[in-house]
Amino acid sequence: MGRDEHLATLQTLGLSTPSAYRDAAFSRNIGLLSPGEQERLARARVAIPGMGGVGGVHLINLVRTGIGCFSLADFDRFDPVNVNRQFGARVPAFGRPKLEVMIEEALSINPFLDIAPYPAGLTPQNLEVFLTGVDVVLDGLDFFQFDIRRALFNTARAMGIPVITAGPMGYSSALLVFSPQGMGFDQYFDISDGMADEQKYLRFAMGLAPRPTHIRYMDLTRVDLKGGKGPSLNIACQLCSSLAATEAVRIILGKPGLEPVPHFTQFDPFLKIYRQGCLRRGNRSLVQRAKLWYVQNVLLKSAAKARVDVAEPPRIAAAELRGLPEAEADYLLRAAVQAPSGDNVQPWGFRTTDSSVDLLLNPDVDTSFFNVRQVASIISCGAAMENIRLASLALGMDAAVDLLPDPGQQNLMARIRLQPGSPAPDSLAQHIWARCTNRRPYSRLPIPEWVQADLQDRIQDVPEAQLHLLADRPQLRKLARLVYMADRIRTEHRGLHEHLNSMIRFSDMEARQTRDGFPLGNLEAGPAGEVFLRLTRPWPVMRAVNAVGLGRMVAMHSAQGILASGAAGMVVVSGLEPRDFLRGGQALQRVWLALTHHGLQMQPMAAIPLFWLRWLWEGPQSFSPGHQKLLEKVWGGFKALFPGADFNTQGLVMLFRTGYGPGIRHRTLRREVRDFMR
Ligand SMILES: Cc1cc2nc3c(=O)[nH]c(=O)nc-3n(C[C@H](O)[C@H](O)[C@H](O)COP(=O)(O)O)c2cc1C
Repeated sequence: MGRDEHLATLQTLGLSTPSAYRDAAFSRNIGLLSPGEQERLARARVAIPGMGGVGGVHLINLVRTGIGCFSLADFDRFDPVNVNRQFGARVPAFGRPKLEVMIEEALSINPFLDIAPYPAGLTPQNLEVFLTGVDVVLDGLDFFQFDIRRALFNTARAMGIPVITAGPMGYSSALLVFSPQGMGFDQYFDISDGMADEQKYLRFAMGLAPRPTHIRYMDLTRVDLKGGKGPSLNIACQLCSSLAATEAVRIILGKPGLEPVPHFTQFDPFLKIYRQGCLRRGNRSLVQRAKLWYVQNVLLKSAAKARVDVAEPPRIAAAELRGLPEAEADYLLRAAVQAPSGDNVQPWGFRTTDSSVDLLLNPDVDTSFFNVRQVASIISCGAAMENIRLASLALGMDAAVDLLPDPGQQNLMARIRLQPGSPAPDSLAQHIWARCTNRRPYSRLPIPEWVQADLQDRIQDVPEAQLHLLADRPQLRKLARLVYMADRIRTEHRGLHEHLNSMIRFSDMEARQTRDGFPLGNLEAGPAGEVFLRLTRPWPVMRAVNAVGLGRMVAMHSAQGILASGAAGMVVVSGLEPRDFLRGGQALQRVWLALTHHGLQMQPMAAIPLFWLRWLWEGPQSFSPGHQKLLEKVWGGFKALFPGADFNTQGLVMLFRTGYGPGIRHRTLRREVRDFMR
């Protein structure tokens, strides 16, 4: 329906003139706005460049407030990725120009609107015409459209027009008003010609929200300054519009209380924080410069180290698949190597045929005390196997898994047979690339019951496995004590100490060269802990440190990890054979991916289960007498915490801690797929 149909409808209601409609449509504004003010608003012209998340809501908000004239610009079309926050993004609008859709929306609210459309978007050529006759501008430009935004603000200033900008930041909104008499855009944000794009974005963001509350909860690895993408919520867009529209009304009606730049306002309803302040020198102030340095050199650099490297699936219709083409095989194996492994040793090998992938164990990369009978590596193979299965479902292939099809070929773990099909996709597949080990403290917030139920559901795909969860605080305190005792052995056992140290990559260059082990930052030991790790590399130093009891700080750190968690969990399987641990690894991976799906962090705590298996298989004498005593206490306490598990007949696959918390700052790397081909 267009303007004419709307006007015809109004005629039938006896509202055929603008003033008659205004009196009816905006009558409930009266009391907050006078009839005279309402008339003034009807004559006012507001310019909104950008009809996306913020601009679209600005328009609708102001139409309902009674603004009568608009100048609107947008060149883009609606797309499904706009749905989360853009007013006009609805299924019937996909593929249609945003400007056209939003004008229809606006006219359906007030068919008497006077709208000047700019379908080519805002350009340096049409800027002046766009701004002519305008009372106030509401900035609806995309965050990353920097140069045209700068030109808009500077031209508006020269033409004596105020500009309001409100930016969604996390759950919050930041608001700035630029009046022609106040500080200018370049001066406030400290922008100059020839500055790199990333610098401009950063200065704009930091000037807009000088107290960046959202940094506390936003996953910065999702901010891609180069690619021009970042997280954005509808909640925040709506808030932006309320703040900006209030200032627009204030300006048009000349109401008191205007506080232009360098004053700023921020409201974060998630953290319940309202901030107002004044940056007399804008981004040039010392404090702002220090913050800019910190965000650029610390936060964003570390976010880059934590960025997820997602492989794009090859675009080929399942029906066209013949055998296993190279691109598909490569994708499946890149998914496989994203699996976790003890100390990131990556203990797998692959062989592909035209319809299957063979998964092999490489027993040589981990011969450590931990890896009793290669169990840790077999668990890792199980996780890699699950990744291949999930990735093949995502490619539209049916995957049938045969465990250890040929016991004669010792290191063959599984054969995954693939064929074109129409399998139901599994939502866990999308998390293969983001799943990680997080060794930071988490919040103690409990895990909601529905999430716990979902984890139980996901593990049922591996019927041999069970998940035991521990969420009760006194029980977690008991577990922390047990973890402390078992983890003491990590620093007191020479073989374990030396193996761990051989897997720590003390410089970024070393990490990039080997592409295995842990980059030092991944261990989250903190500056003092990193010095400790560097100094105690040689065993004689570690032994001396142990002698004075300082080695126990490492175990204390692990115990504190359990306390700084929402829950602990243990995955067990029904038997103690290698095939059981393969299934166990598969189940562990499903739980881990499901935790990622729910935004939960996770850290395996492998010492207790792996020491138990060594105790069971190799006998207590494989530990020193002192450690035997320690472990006897651990077994008693541990069995009491997990009465549902049978320690002698079931395989303990993994103990882990989990909870809500900040993301990791430093990812581990993986070797190239070709390094694993056999
Ligand atoms: C069998 C196994 C045992 C592990 N044990 C521990 C552990 O005791 N403590 C820990 O912090 N991480 C442990 N991890 C996590 C690995 O160190 C981690 O998966 C690996 O470094 C790769 O990093 P990512 O998980 O971030 O991809 C273990 C992982 C596996 C598969």
